Amino acid sequence: MLRTLAVSAGYGLLPVLNGIDLGVAAGEVVGLLGRNGAGKTTLLRVIAGGLKASGGAVVLGDQDLTNAPAFRRARAGIAHVPQGRGIFNQLTVRQNLEVGTRAARDRGDGDIPADIFGYFPILREREAQTAGTLSGGQQQMLAIGRALCGLPSVLLLDEPSEGIQPNIVQSIAELVPRIARERGIAIVLVEQNLDLVLKAADRCLVMEKGRIVHEGTPEAFADETLLKDLLAL
Ligand SMILES: Nc1ncnc2c1ncn2[C@@H]1O[C@H](COP(=O)(O)OP(=O)(O)O)[C@@H](O)[C@H]1O
Ligand SMILES: [Mg+2]
Repeated sequence: MLRTLAVSAGYGLLPVLNGIDLGVAAGEVVGLLGRNGAGKTTLLRVIAGGLKASGGAVVLGDQDLTNAPAFRRARAGIAHVPQGRGIFNQLTVRQNLEVGTRAARDRGDGDIPADIFGYFPILREREAQTAGTLSGGQQQMLAIGRALCGLPSVLLLDEPSEGIQPNIVQSIAELVPRIARERGIAIVLVEQNLDLVLKAADRCLVMEKGRIVHEGTPEAFADETLLKDLLAL
């Protein structure tokens, strides 16, 4: 579904990504681990089109999106929930979800998919509430719900557990694989929360200094001292 081929990128003269090959299938959750500064956020930005690759390719199905602007990638089905969530605080929950439907302009009917509320019932309860007044966890759910309103085929989640309560982290760990299976979405889950990744991912990658240095199943990682070393835990 989604592939990056030898992707390189950086900021100005600072190289950050160095030949990243990543493949995620429909319905699969790939966990991306790595310590701060490894380049995880940068990789998601290069996939979503927020930052241009300096080398390599980003391919979705049979479409080469390497040079496509971000809005075209969103319309092609790549949804990005950035670190810090990026919801519109001044808008209501419903308005945020409506904004999310715009990415699906060519593919959807512009309505909020009813089953979104099946994943996040709290969003229906809070539909008329201003997003800025939600708790951190509820805002994260809104950010994911908004992304799903664009009927994506690829969902990029950047540290969804950051700064939210443990019980909501738990429900995100359950929802992420469910969303992938039920909607056939390829999900890239960037996380520092090891428990969440090991629970939610089918496959885990570890990044270090802009390279993928390790790959394995969550089972293989579960009592892996190497992983703890790599992540400096
Ligand atoms: N906007 C930016 N401008 C310059 N350097 C950046 C910018 N964003 C990130 N970096 C640098 O790129 C490297 C990778 O950062 P990032 O992708 O955010 O890592 P991670 O998400 O794994 O913590 C770090 O060295 C960081 O300082
Ligand atoms: Mg990051």
